[in-house]
Amino acid sequence: MCAKSTQNRDWVAILDLGSQYTHLIARRVRELGVYSEIVDYRIKPKELLLRAPKAIILSGGPASLTSSNSPVIPAGIFKLGIPVLGICYGAQLMAKLMKGRVVKAKAREYGKTQLFVKSNMSLFKGLKSRQIVWMSHGDKISRLPRGFSNLASTRNSSIAAMENREQGLYGLQFHPEVVHTPKGKKMLKNFIVDIAGCRPSWSIKSFIDESIKEIRRTVGKEKVLCALSGGVDSSVLAMLLHKAVGRKLFCIFIDNGLVRKDEPRTVVKRFRNNYRVNLKAVNSEKIFLKALRGVTDPEKKRKIIGRLFIRVFEKEAKKLGKIKFLAQGTLYPDVIESRSALGGPSATIKTHHNVGGLPKRLNFKLIEPLKYLFKDEVRILGKKLGLPDEVVLRQPFPGPGLAVRVIGAVTKDSLDVLRQADWILTEEMKKSGLYTKLWQSFCVFLPVKTVGVMGDERTYENVVAIRAVTSLDAMTANWAKLPYQILERISNRIINEVKGVNRVVYDISSKPPSTIEWE
Ligand code: XMP
Repeated sequence: MCAKSTQNRDWVAILDLGSQYTHLIARRVRELGVYSEIVDYRIKPKELLLRAPKAIILSGGPASLTSSNSPVIPAGIFKLGIPVLGICYGAQLMAKLMKGRVVKAKAREYGKTQLFVKSNMSLFKGLKSRQIVWMSHGDKISRLPRGFSNLASTRNSSIAAMENREQGLYGLQFHPEVVHTPKGKKMLKNFIVDIAGCRPSWSIKSFIDESIKEIRRTVGKEKVLCALSGGVDSSVLAMLLHKAVGRKLFCIFIDNGLVRKDEPRTVVKRFRNNYRVNLKAVNSEKIFLKALRGVTDPEKKRKIIGRLFIRVFEKEAKKLGKIKFLAQGTLYPDVIESRSALGGPSATIKTHHNVGGLPKRLNFKLIEPLKYLFKDEVRILGKKLGLPDEVVLRQPFPGPGLAVRVIGAVTKDSLDVLRQADWILTEEMKKSGLYTKLWQSFCVFLPVKTVGVMGDERTYENVVAIRAVTSLDAMTANWAKLPYQILERISNRIINEVKGVNRVVYDISSKPPSTIEWE
């Protein structure tokens, strides 16, 4: 699977030693126009050589080389004749494996630090001799391996950058991939383009051309099935497939009654009417709501919806006759995550369900054209394929939909109230320009009635909560400090325009300890 993505192209292998920034290194390299892939650090040197990367980067990592169970790469990696750059833990590992010395530092060095560059060649070519860099380490290189020279230092690290030009080995104690190292991208460019000689040949445009060819080659005369939810990933996937195989693509949109206001109509109008995609829209609201009747447990809701989705999808797919391929909108972070998930147990906080996760027993051949792309690359791809901002800049929406935003039992009435309230919130977020700055903003329907007064009348109606968060990857999130005037306008509009709501509250909890969705 990997060979295809890197065929005939200069690429960089990033050996993942567990850093929270590994994805970022991969992104930075791609921003330089050079393709990159994250690779398991245990890869055998021979295997890596077969895949022929033009450069290797060792990521940082949380481990300490002074402990016995820290991850170690085979030393043979340094003898392949391929330039290697070690970052932070990766640099320390290089120093240790090449017979230098790494010790626990007296003080942990963390944050923005002044770097004194000794040589304005190689990694620091074209840069001033004082740089601001981002440090985060507790160990340090105390003795260089033989044949290496010291390129830079900080107040706490006498060896903050090193090189062995003859062997093509380089190390940086700091993180060039983060924005807090302002000239980090230039340092990476010096390594990747100047030192390793990678020719920039990766762009979304080249990705489109190559994947269209690849999809056509794989699919031949057969048909392709795709579950279209209207979200960013499945929309972009459908557009790419449509460009590649046209009318041989068959999309299914399942309206489970848990989608946002106007969603079924918009998806049909966009894909079937505008883009002329074969699209089957299935209204399954009744069976989903029936299956959910009286169910209050969030995990049960998720399981019911997940199972039912597969059943409906399978039934509808059968009606389309023999279809060989099923396309899924798996993205690169999913691929990396599922790989690392194999390594260790983790608690299930929520069972995630999305349209990407159809079971193997459906007996299709899978195609996953987006599986090497990061989310922001998928958005750029969507834009290049002609999708409007309204689609490519859409906020994430959970697979179980509004069922996890109606707290407690789900009814058609509560869903309708929620849909209207959510529509108003979204409208106001878009009007104020905040929509694309937030990770998510949505309403939650609470099964609580409170007393209010409207005109001279006493009311006894439901409460709607507003949830708005900023986040980079949904692993952590902060509640958004929305301006009071905007909150006031949203609250007024929801209470005045949505029948059945007489109170609006704002959720001021961050993740952790709360999650983004309420269920
Ligand atoms: P939580 O609530 O766990 O959510 O903090 C993190 C992110 O994941 C989204 N989410 C889901 N996405 N299927 C999905 O495809 C799901 O079942 C699901 N549950 C939560 C949530 O909207 C947030 O962006």
